Amino acid sequence: MPIEAESPEELGYGNIECNLAESSVTDTNFKDLDFNIKDITLCYGDHKGLPALRELIAADYGLQPEHIILVPGAAAGLFIVATSLLNKNSQLLVERPNYATNIETPRLLECEINFIDLHFETQYKLDLYRLSTMVKSMPSLISITTPHNPTGSVLTEEELMEVVELSRRHGSYLLVDETYRELSFNNPPPLAASISDNVISVSSVSKAYGLPGIRMGWIACKNKHLLETFLAAKEQIFICNSLLDEHVALHYLQHKQQFFAPIKQHINNNFKVLEEHMNSSKNLEWVKPQGGVVCYPRIIPSIDYKVFYKELYHKHKTLVGAGHWFETSQKYMRIGFGWPTKEALQQGLHHIEATIDGLK
Ligand SMILES: Cc1ncc(COP(=O)(O)O)c(C=O)c1O
Repeated sequence: MPIEAESPEELGYGNIECNLAESSVTDTNFKDLDFNIKDITLCYGDHKGLPALRELIAADYGLQPEHIILVPGAAAGLFIVATSLLNKNSQLLVERPNYATNIETPRLLECEINFIDLHFETQYKLDLYRLSTMVKSMPSLISITTPHNPTGSVLTEEELMEVVELSRRHGSYLLVDETYRELSFNNPPPLAASISDNVISVSSVSKAYGLPGIRMGWIACKNKHLLETFLAAKEQIFICNSLLDEHVALHYLQHKQQFFAPIKQHINNNFKVLEEHMNSSKNLEWVKPQGGVVCYPRIIPSIDYKVFYKELYHKHKTLVGAGHWFETSQKYMRIGFGWPTKEALQQGLHHIEATIDGLK
């Protein structure tokens, strides 16, 4: 996938000065967690995941620990859900653009895929009426993400309730990728999985806490049969999680207030920089994100987009998420504002403008 082949990890972080391509907050350094891992027996862990961690996550959502299965990152959760629920005889309704895994795994499973396109002109809002006309009378999974990557659009509580109701009415499952939930600008709606037992929520510690290097996420669901299926799938792939990862995540969540407060401050500061820039830009127009740490603006002048990305990276050492990462026109780009320092964000935005100016 282009998003992987052209990722900062592949290019080498040392080769990028202004990294505006990340969809998470700044990565956390282990030493800042002040956590001394000493007394952990490295046995196979509980297959559902560390009980204390599941308890903590469940309590936060108003669920029970048995409703949570810990998995190695939200990516693993999405893979498990897709491979458990989709096959050649089922339908997937999925947003586009999207985080690639939400589309690529279903493609491999050869299910019927119907895209719900999110448009710049309609503020990247999910078209609920259109969605309601697309559900077919075959086993179906509706897949949505809120806050959304790469657009930063967010479902209101009323909209979420409507999607849940729609999925229930049609006997569909609803997958809600809530990986960015903690990064909602306003109070988020209840966790989708807590609303109805045909709903599956997936999330992780990667994006909001800057902990993608411990592979720790979870599937939340109230449906016993689904949970058994997901657990069986997890056991086939991983047996259990890394106990080290589970304990680091537990430590983090036990001290979340302390660790998360400065992260939120950083995001707010950077968002101000971004908003100011976008409001005065002659080269970019945007849909202001409502959550998360990314936005999906587009280039206004007609330029050679391929050259733009090339020059931006090779001349200015600045990386953004190019439109083709998300199967859209190259005139769109994802800008991540939570990961870079304020200075790198300012510099990177300046480089974007200078590169476009040079190509007009
Ligand atoms: C919407 C979305 N879901 C899931 C993931 C995977 O995250 P994790 O690091 O928890 O596997 C990502 C990562 O970019 C994402 O953007």
